[in-house]
Amino acid sequence: MRILSGMRPTGKLHLGNYFGALAHWVKLQQQGEECFFSIVDWHALSSDYADPTELQSNIREVLLDWLAVGLDPQRSTIFLQSQVKEHAEMYLLLSMITPLGWLTRVPTYKEQQQELQGKDLSTHGFLGYPVLQAADILLYQSDAVPVGEDQLPHLELTREIIRRLNGLYKLKLPEPKPLLTKTPKINGTDGRKMSKSYNNAIYLADSKAQIDKAVMEMVTDPARKRRSDPGEPDNCNLFPLHRVMTDSNTRDEIVSGCRSAQLGCVDCKKLLTTSIHNFLEPIQKKRQTTAKDAGYLDRVLADGAEKARRVAASTIDQIRKAMNLK
Ligand code: TRP
Ligand code: SF4
Repeated sequence: MRILSGMRPTGKLHLGNYFGALAHWVKLQQQGEECFFSIVDWHALSSDYADPTELQSNIREVLLDWLAVGLDPQRSTIFLQSQVKEHAEMYLLLSMITPLGWLTRVPTYKEQQQELQGKDLSTHGFLGYPVLQAADILLYQSDAVPVGEDQLPHLELTREIIRRLNGLYKLKLPEPKPLLTKTPKINGTDGRKMSKSYNNAIYLADSKAQIDKAVMEMVTDPARKRRSDPGEPDNCNLFPLHRVMTDSNTRDEIVSGCRSAQLGCVDCKKLLTTSIHNFLEPIQKKRQTTAKDAGYLDRVLADGAEKARRVAASTIDQIRKAMNLK
């Protein structure tokens, strides 16, 4: 199977990014699928064009996290979108055949405009965001795209664009299918979706002190008001983290201790802190050694771009010919 996925460079990644996406990517890589993973910096510009000062440092942080969790440039093609100019050309060509109505109808379009209030997103580039995403996917003729549920409308639009392209020019380009992540949803410390902008995230690169503090601030089962009240892990914001990081014996003890009120939330949080430390320790070690080698990240991206370009160039040639370009 050929796989492509992308992530916007928003800076250091958090546990939500890991369990929602990266863990799945690493698994696909380990299964021996042919994987392309792109840091989509042009997509980042579509909403952050007014202040790109942090773009380069954000790219660096994302790449450090990717490598730290086990994405391996020897096995997967890891590249920066803007270093493979074929993405821009494909975006242009796809924009020719994409009806405006398809784009204004994408639910994320209006949602994001509302959500990111301080930014003027009534731009051509922002409307075209899903066309650029379709270009990313089509260039590698991907069979499958690992994404979160929120990306399903973009995937559906990608399939519609490819169908139209196939219909217009008698091509047989594959329609990619979404691969949804099955992990339980990891929320932020306040119970909302874990997100940089909500200030409720636990980062892969966080220090012990930062993790301790974040875990102590976490909201728990809202019905458990006093220490002597029994709690319910299934209603607790902490428990999905125990589910993915704590060994099953300890986890069983937590469940029964919580329900019988023998275990207090503070102690339960200490157990979680330990689990997170243990989980992050090897990742952070890897991150530190990678960060020390000054030229390494640039080399990874240069090699990745070269590998990506080989595949991308052959697809774009095919489309160019189909559209009677030379
Ligand atoms: N829109 C995706 C997101 O915000 C990022 C993305 C860009 C992507 N290009 C892609 C995801 C191609 C999958 C495939 O998460
Ligand atoms: Fe949540 Fe643990 Fe408290 Fe139970 S004991 S409510 S699982 S923090």
